[in-house]
Amino acid sequence: MNTIICGLQWGDEGKGKIVDYLTESADLVARGQGGNNAGHTVLANGKKYILHLVPSGILWGNKTCVIGNGVVMDPVGLCKEITTLEEQGITITPELLLISDRAHVVLPYHRELDAAREAALGKNKIGTTKRGIGPTYADKANRIGLRLADFHDEETARELIDIRLQEANETLTRYGLPTFTTDEVLDEVRPAIARLLPHVTNVIPTLHKAWKEKKTILFEGAQGSLLDIDFGTYPFLTSSNTTAGGACTGSGLPPTAIERVIGVCKAYTTRVGSGPMPTENDDISAYFHARGMEFGATTGRARRCGWLDTVLLRMAVMVNGVTDLAVTIVDGLDERESLKICVAYDIDGERHEFPPATRSGWDKATPIYEELPGWQSDTTAARSWDDLPENAKTYLNRLSELVGAPVSFIGNGPEREQTIIV
Ligand code: IMP
Repeated sequence: MNTIICGLQWGDEGKGKIVDYLTESADLVARGQGGNNAGHTVLANGKKYILHLVPSGILWGNKTCVIGNGVVMDPVGLCKEITTLEEQGITITPELLLISDRAHVVLPYHRELDAAREAALGKNKIGTTKRGIGPTYADKANRIGLRLADFHDEETARELIDIRLQEANETLTRYGLPTFTTDEVLDEVRPAIARLLPHVTNVIPTLHKAWKEKKTILFEGAQGSLLDIDFGTYPFLTSSNTTAGGACTGSGLPPTAIERVIGVCKAYTTRVGSGPMPTENDDISAYFHARGMEFGATTGRARRCGWLDTVLLRMAVMVNGVTDLAVTIVDGLDERESLKICVAYDIDGERHEFPPATRSGWDKATPIYEELPGWQSDTTAARSWDDLPENAKTYLNRLSELVGAPVSFIGNGPEREQTIIV
């Protein structure tokens, strides 16, 4: 079954583990959006792997992994990642890792432009990962970006960078940031591009052949639905379509090829960076941080934590067309005496079942909670639905009812085997 896995919150839902779990039965694992702003931590065979751009299917050694056109690709970052994985014993060949020739390239000035944009926003800054993601997507939309295919011939790349730097350097000068010469840019990325070019190809025929041969294709989403450029908490979000549609536009495999959409959410809510988060709660944040949990894989930043927010999830389930929910880190709530679920927002005295579109709406959104008893027992050894405490089942059933999708997977620990199939 061709499947898209997407995050339903603000990223960091534990998608990597669900992807890794489902990869066993997949032939091909693909990414269609985002860049090395993402960070997936996967524990497998007693080792810890952190993946940013490479699909986690690579850990299996026999899956074709595809980085699609919708991904923005930092060549230096990707090379570092490949080297680290190789040092950990993972094989990465051009047959196992295919990178779309249409993927846009993150260049050194994009990272500086990211910093410039954040400086310009001052206290309204987005809190980006500073990986140059927004400026690279902006260049793509402005039709002044460079795609990997442009590097097949360095002269083409040189001409395009020359033109782009005229304006980019003006902006960087205005913010007192380092400017670049074309040679500096090329020198910085040349070895990495040379390392990657054998992997660069038109991935569309590969994807379609796999589809026609009824192979199983798995799309691994990055970030989460509330960071989607269209459906997220604008402007506090990332610059790609993180929702299910992004997998198709970002790869060349059409919507008619997709049979299942798995939406991944934590049993509570977290977010990194700035922007609205109505259920944010200092007590819950302190609780997780004291246990060494909820620090970002990419930037190490402490994540903001809060109660489960089904207003957000309800919309995310709709726009992604979620057929199955995967609820992760249920064990994270094991010790809590009681649990709150946000069922709606109060905005100016009115009840809202869906997120607002305005910034003032977000500012005023006050959660309306339902309270459920906790289970106060260790769920990490549970291997089936029946092994779970009654109160955990009630919590998960209520979640499913409130958001309108069935719970099919439950994560109750970081290991591969700590995944319950419902
Ligand atoms: P950017 O994607 O670096 O431009 O960052 C934009 C926003 O998305 C910031 O709030 C980031 O913290 C957030 N973000 C980007 N990637 C991830 C991710 O993989 N997990 C969680 N948040 C992310």
